[in-house]
Amino acid sequence: MNDSHPFTVPLFRSAAGVEEALGRFLLPADPALDSIERASVAAGLPAIAVAKPLGRLLSVLCLALGAKRVLEIGTLGGSGAVWLARGLATGGRIVSLELDAGRADLARRSLADAGLGDSVEVVTGAALDWLDAAIARGEPPFDLVFIDADKEHSRDYVKRALTLSRPGTVIVVDNVVREGRVADVDCPDAGVQGIRRMLEWIGARPDLAATALQTIDAKGHDGFLLAVVRGGDGGTRID
Ligand code: DHB
Ligand code: MG
Repeated sequence: MNDSHPFTVPLFRSAAGVEEALGRFLLPADPALDSIERASVAAGLPAIAVAKPLGRLLSVLCLALGAKRVLEIGTLGGSGAVWLARGLATGGRIVSLELDAGRADLARRSLADAGLGDSVEVVTGAALDWLDAAIARGEPPFDLVFIDADKEHSRDYVKRALTLSRPGTVIVVDNVVREGRVADVDCPDAGVQGIRRMLEWIGARPDLAATALQTIDAKGHDGFLLAVVRGGDGGTRID
């Protein structure tokens, strides 16, 4: 990609070139993820897998936390789970929730091929059902929760993620900018409105310290939310 004329190439192309250049420095060749991408394309999945820079951030965060218990909401083809698994502490495990049985099967196969079959449990079904059942049975808190599912239910997912957290738990939410549409109060897109409801809710929670960062990568202009559950006298679990 030729980036020598920054004012004559569209920002998007330039950003894709920058992502590629940064990736050459920081991201080694990745046959496991390439193979998941191929399987996802062959299965007709939409090309909405987590972007590599954010995927790498998930690995980095898990490493920084020494994460042993990770929850992913929205498995798709399994690439997010691969990035999370790469940062897991020894013996760590990921639970990944996927509504679509075909996607869940595909992800299970891909994760097994990547040697991660024992680290990741892909659960088929509605995430809210699993989350409510987990809360009801007193599931121990997770170290990190990555939310990358349907955007309409974002607030519901974050609420439950918080209930399944402890002080220090990190919550990451993908796709909070949506080409800038998050700034449009009247945006007709139900997903964007779902993200807005989530942001409003998080912004009013004293027990969450959160920020949202815009990103431009090969997939376009989007962003992610990063939050940590604050400590508190009596703990922060919400019942
Ligand atoms: C969409 C969903 C995603 O998780 C993503 O990263 C990009 C797009 C979508 O539903 O359009
Ligand atoms: Mg996403």
